[in-house]
Amino acid sequence: MNWKVSHRKTKHEYNPSFNPFEFEVKEETASYEVKKAFFPYFHDPVHHIKLFQGDCIEILKKVPDNCVDLIFADPPYFLSNGGITCHAGKMVSVNKGKWDISKGIEDNHQFNLNWLGECQRVLKPNGTIWVSGTSRIIHSIGFAMQQLEFKILNDIIWYKRNAPPNLACRYFTH
Ligand SMILES: C[S@@+](CC[C@H](N)C(=O)[O-])C[C@H]1O[C@@H](n2cnc3c(N)ncnc32)[C@H](O)[C@@H]1O
Repeated sequence: MNWKVSHRKTKHEYNPSFNPFEFEVKEETASYEVKKAFFPYFHDPVHHIKLFQGDCIEILKKVPDNCVDLIFADPPYFLSNGGITCHAGKMVSVNKGKWDISKGIEDNHQFNLNWLGECQRVLKPNGTIWVSGTSRIIHSIGFAMQQLEFKILNDIIWYKRNAPPNLACRYFTH
């Protein structure tokens, strides 16, 4: 597979006097879906908070390079493929929505490369990204980060004291 990897620039044009809170998602040039504008569905001008809803790649494309300090992402795990999970103590099928249906490991990986590449572009040179995931997707995220030449600093494993029961009995634990 030829992965489409958009490498970050090796040298950053970084202006430290730039105020990161001043960046605006350019609402008038938005092209998401039917070229409708991006409107924040939450805006708190006192604390400089704006929340946008839409395709993350389309929205990130409106953000200038090198202006974000920290990104936290919880991308799709691509779990909804007829498998089972435990909900409220019962075995149920996993169906989180269309967005969670796997398109195959290669397309899932290209999706991770695409959004991580956009995140890398908007991050400041000393910015950081946190990504949460499950064993289904986290290895692709790690590989994509290596392809994009991110420096991986930490792997954090969440110890859930109240983890769901091990229904399939094929894992050491959940
Ligand atoms: C693992 S869930 C994250 C759930 C979230 N942490 C929460 O507690 O609600 C992944 C989320 O990514 C969203 N998503 C999927 N594809 C997306 C895309 N292209 N752009 C933006 N969000 C997307 C889904 O709607 C879903 O809410």
